Amino acid sequence: MNLGTVISFIETPSTGRFHFTIDKNATVRKGQFVQLEIEDGKIIGRVSDIIKTNRYFMRPEAVNEYQNSGGIEEIFPTTEWEYLIAEVNILGVFDGNGFKNSLFPPSPGTDVNEPEIEIIKKFFGLEENGIHMGEMPHHKLDAKFSLNKLFKKHLAILAISGAGKSYLTGILLEELLTKEKRNSPGVVIIDTHGEYTNLAESKDFATRVKVFSSEEMRIGFQNIRTYDIASIQSIKSGTQIRELDKILHSLKSNYSISDAISKIDESDIATKTKDVLLSHLISLQRTGIFGLSDYPKSEELVKQGQVSIIDMSDCISMKKKQILTRYFSGKIFHQRRAGTLPPFVLILEEAHQYIPQMATKENALCRSILQTIAREGRKFNASLCLISQRPVNLSTTVLSQCNTKIILRVSNPYDIEYIRNSSEALTKDAIDQISTLPVGYGIVIGEAVNAPLLVKIRKKKINVLERDDSMEKVCNEFYDRAEKNKKDSKAFV
Ligand SMILES: Nc1ncnc2c1ncn2[C@@H]1O[C@H](COP(=O)(O)OP(=O)(O)O)[C@@H](O)[C@H]1O
Ligand SMILES: [Mg+2]
Repeated sequence: MNLGTVISFIETPSTGRFHFTIDKNATVRKGQFVQLEIEDGKIIGRVSDIIKTNRYFMRPEAVNEYQNSGGIEEIFPTTEWEYLIAEVNILGVFDGNGFKNSLFPPSPGTDVNEPEIEIIKKFFGLEENGIHMGEMPHHKLDAKFSLNKLFKKHLAILAISGAGKSYLTGILLEELLTKEKRNSPGVVIIDTHGEYTNLAESKDFATRVKVFSSEEMRIGFQNIRTYDIASIQSIKSGTQIRELDKILHSLKSNYSISDAISKIDESDIATKTKDVLLSHLISLQRTGIFGLSDYPKSEELVKQGQVSIIDMSDCISMKKKQILTRYFSGKIFHQRRAGTLPPFVLILEEAHQYIPQMATKENALCRSILQTIAREGRKFNASLCLISQRPVNLSTTVLSQCNTKIILRVSNPYDIEYIRNSSEALTKDAIDQISTLPVGYGIVIGEAVNAPLLVKIRKKKINVLERDDSMEKVCNEFYDRAEKNKKDSKAFV
């Protein structure tokens, strides 16, 4: 369909931009894509702005004069002279096979058309059988992304709180769960707030979803190394580390943390060192996460076509969350590297809590392993999907390894600047869109697309838990409970 005609405007058409008058019968909106033919091929462009002009309103002194004497509309057919001009950024030229840079401007007078769907799909690198995230606004075209490109390396979903990060993650999970098992990676999600657990109750997917509560997870004490204990407890003294190592090596197989404690107690280590080691191990024992063997086994955690949800919602201690994440992500990564586990995607909700940029080592117990996965994971098809509302607090090393980013609304200028510095693919055009994105829209940039793409996120098919934590609801619950207690104690008297 014809949308308008290229005009000769201030400094355009050029190789990068052109303007066209919008046909009276056509609807053109900011952000939509257009196409036009030149000798080199078909130009694909994006409407970056729309301008209205009217020659009757161009000279301020004349407008003023006429308005004072009854109004300009009374005298001239002004409405007939209102024109819409669209400003277009040229994105590339399709030559029948692929896309090239634009090296020659279109001529004024050229027709501007709706783009051909097939060309747009090719331009962005969309895939018919890909992950269906939503649709392209203004065009009747599903935004489906290659699973391979999306998860081959790492993905980050960034936005302010409430912008729809978890909702979108729910959609990605749905898409992964509808794929045949033999074509699927294993998915593990560190569910910091317990938002995904009801996925296990949906009748469509229940058989492919497993929930592991952080309360029931265990690390087999004999599986962790002296080095890990030293890092977790920040033991720095060489003597203490040496003595601890000796003790652990002297224990027979199948030992527990209490066995280690007794062994230290009975040993002839110097009292000062002994006391320090005992207090460290007792403090570890109190976390309650050490047992005789690991639960779950990594083969239960990472299974092709299965989504394993690690529900951290009952876990208040940051340290405990980090120890669990450090241990299990390290373990599955090493096993993946050895080829004993299938490819996997590890999704981290509130990723800045696990991979902070600034925190000291003692407060960032899983940063180092997650950085290793970020650097080396793609060689082994071990992918990270990081979700965060505070990109500035997220490790730069890791963020810059995220080859695809889905950005929903981000308003903090520091966050925008930080995202921009970590992604070459983010054009100025895309940056301008980010801070004004409404809920339900996102911009995909990086490897999964050939150019930044705005997507209207689709509706979810299944419900991921909606937490109603409104003040009113919480007040109601508290009131009801207090009333009940009052009644109960009266009945008792
Ligand atoms: N694409 C969407 N369509 C409809 N509702 C959405 C969409 N994205 C988010 N929401 C709603 O907005 C609210 C916040 O979304 P949520 O995913 O929890 O945000 P975040 O995880 O970024 O804090 C939820 O009530 C969710 O249902
Ligand atoms: Mg969320």
